[in-house]
Amino acid sequence: MSSPLVESSAPGKAILFGEHAVVYGQPAIAVPVLEVTAKATVVPARTGGGLTVVAADLGQCFTLATAPVGDPLAKAAQLTLSYLNVPEPDATIKIRSLIPIASGLGSGAAVAASMIRALATFVDRSLSRDEVSQLVFEVEKIHHGTPSGIDNTVIAFEQPVCFQRGAAPGSELLSVGLPFTLLIVNSGLPSPTKRLVSRVRQDWERDPEKSEVLFERIGDVAREACRHIEMGNVDALGPLMDENHALLTKLGVSSPTLNQLVEAARGAGASGAKLSGAGQGGCIVALVHPEEADAAAEMLREAGAARVIRTTVG
Ligand code: PMV
Repeated sequence: MSSPLVESSAPGKAILFGEHAVVYGQPAIAVPVLEVTAKATVVPARTGGGLTVVAADLGQCFTLATAPVGDPLAKAAQLTLSYLNVPEPDATIKIRSLIPIASGLGSGAAVAASMIRALATFVDRSLSRDEVSQLVFEVEKIHHGTPSGIDNTVIAFEQPVCFQRGAAPGSELLSVGLPFTLLIVNSGLPSPTKRLVSRVRQDWERDPEKSEVLFERIGDVAREACRHIEMGNVDALGPLMDENHALLTKLGVSSPTLNQLVEAARGAGASGAKLSGAGQGGCIVALVHPEEADAAAEMLREAGAARVIRTTVG
C-alpha cells in the first residue's frame, strides 16, 4: 500500500574548512544550511503509468522509462527503487529547490536526498540517514566524478560534520560548543566542481610534493578548527578561515571575484572569511558577530554579492 501524498525536504550545505584536501584523505568541516532547502513531493498517478519526474525549476519532465541517460534525478529514483527492491510505483515526483545551482551549496545532493526520502516513504519503507547518504553519494558521482563524500554526509545527517574519507559512518558528527554566525555570500558565478577537482588532481599528478604540503596544512587547519568548534572557541576560527583561504589560493582554486568578496567581508567586520566549496565561483563564507551580521550582509550586497544567506551553526 502506498501513501496518498508524501513530502520530504533536505537542506543545503556549506564547507567551512578543508575542501579539495578532503578528496586526498584530509578532514573537512561542513554544516547544513537550513535556510535553503530542496523539496520532493510524491503523489499517486494513473495505474500503469510508472514514475514521472517533474523538476519545473530545471524545465525537466520525463518518465523513468524515457529518462535521459545519466540524468541525476532519474538515477536517484532508480537507485532508491532498486536498493529497496520494490517495483516502480505509479506516481509523480515533483522537485522544487531554493538552493542556488553550481554555487557550492550542495543543491544536487539536497535534491537527491529529498527525492530518495520521499520515494522511500511513498512505498512505505524507511531509510536510515546513513543509507540516504550512501545513495546520494552514488548520485553525486554524476555531478562530481570523484566526490569525497562530504556533501552527501552533511546533507543526509543535517548536522555539522568533521568528515574524513573512510571513517565509520556517523563518527563524523561534530558537536558545537558555542553557536556561531556565518554569512554565506554567493558570487553569482558558477563553480564548476568537476573541472576544478580534476585540475587539482592534474597539478597533484604533475608535482605531488607541492600539492601534498598544501593538503596536509589544510588538514591541520581543519583538525584545529574541529577542536575549537567542539570547545566553543569561536574567536579562534576566524584566523583559521583566513589561513585556509590563503592555502586554497595557493592551490589555484580561488579567483579575483572570490578574493574581492573575502576582502569585502573582512572590511565589513568579519573575523575570518574564505571561499567555500570547489572555488572559482560559487560562495565565500564569513564568520561574523551576530549583532553585526545584518550590517555586514548589507555591505557585502553593496560590494557585489548576488545573495547573502545568514545562518547560525549549532
Ligand atoms: O560541491 P562543492 O562545490 O561544494 O565542492 C565539493 C568540495 C570538494 O572538496 C571540492 C570536492 C569533494 O568532493 O569533496
